[in-house]
Amino acid sequence: MMNWILRNEGIVPRGRAHVDIDDRGHQFGDGIYEVIRVYGGIPFLMQPHLDRLRRSARAIGMALPWDDGALTVRCAELVAREALADGILYIQVTRGVCPRLQVFPPEDVLPQITAYARAMPRPRAETVDGLHARLVPDIRWLRCDIKSINLLPNMLARQTAKEHGCGEAIQHRDGTVTEGAFSNAYIVADGTVHTHPANNLILAGITRVHILRLCAGLGLPVVEEPFRVDDLRRAEEIFISSTASEVAPVIRLDGQPVGGGTPGTVTRRLQAAFSETLPKA
Ligand SMILES: Cc1ncc(COP(=O)(O)O)c(C=O)c1O
Repeated sequence: MMNWILRNEGIVPRGRAHVDIDDRGHQFGDGIYEVIRVYGGIPFLMQPHLDRLRRSARAIGMALPWDDGALTVRCAELVAREALADGILYIQVTRGVCPRLQVFPPEDVLPQITAYARAMPRPRAETVDGLHARLVPDIRWLRCDIKSINLLPNMLARQTAKEHGCGEAIQHRDGTVTEGAFSNAYIVADGTVHTHPANNLILAGITRVHILRLCAGLGLPVVEEPFRVDDLRRAEEIFISSTASEVAPVIRLDGQPVGGGTPGTVTRRLQAAFSETLPKA
């Protein structure tokens, strides 16, 4: 259930929250967003998500109308109003409402916030059993580091995966593995965790940063260098990470078993370490 929506004017009942036809997000996909997990009513890694929201805004030349303090208070209010235990907070900011203009609107047009809190159980099936993944070409633009609301290529990749009975697509650019459709991707080779560097070709996942910190704590070596599709196919383990999926083992790639075809030990260690860090209600 989702009953309340945060808009610039405040929190309003869902039925009273309107999106203007001239909203730049609606017309151009001119906006950015964040998804934050809530565990036991407590937002997880809220500040890094707000930092990334601000980085995305800066990258597209947009100012956020509210400071972090105001956003944090308003989001806590959404969680409280929904009496949310486990779920997500969604925050979107578009460049505001203005008759269709192919350049930035005049300065008096204020960015428009939309946020809500919604119940979503932890992803038990995919984290416990693992998921199947499908390799697809990465057809996205060259600023994948911006968490843009334009998710058409990501959604098309995930749809392709679904049509092949898979839960996630793993994308590659000319044979270099970038990331999942809606997640970061990792392999384990010779006991080392490999993942694409956080440059313009991937989204620097908040969960990714958290996992790399956990790897350091566990003494697991990490290499942030591009790796190839062949490395992916030969990997001892593959896993993905995201706010929604947490740390999820990939047990089959394009129908072939990964490693022994069951979640690997490094992935399991990281999952256990990850769970240890979650807020307790
Ligand atoms: C393309 C892409 N990469 C990576 C991620 C993982 O980011 P985070 O861990 O911040 O959720 C996401 C999350 O939705 C994503 O859409």
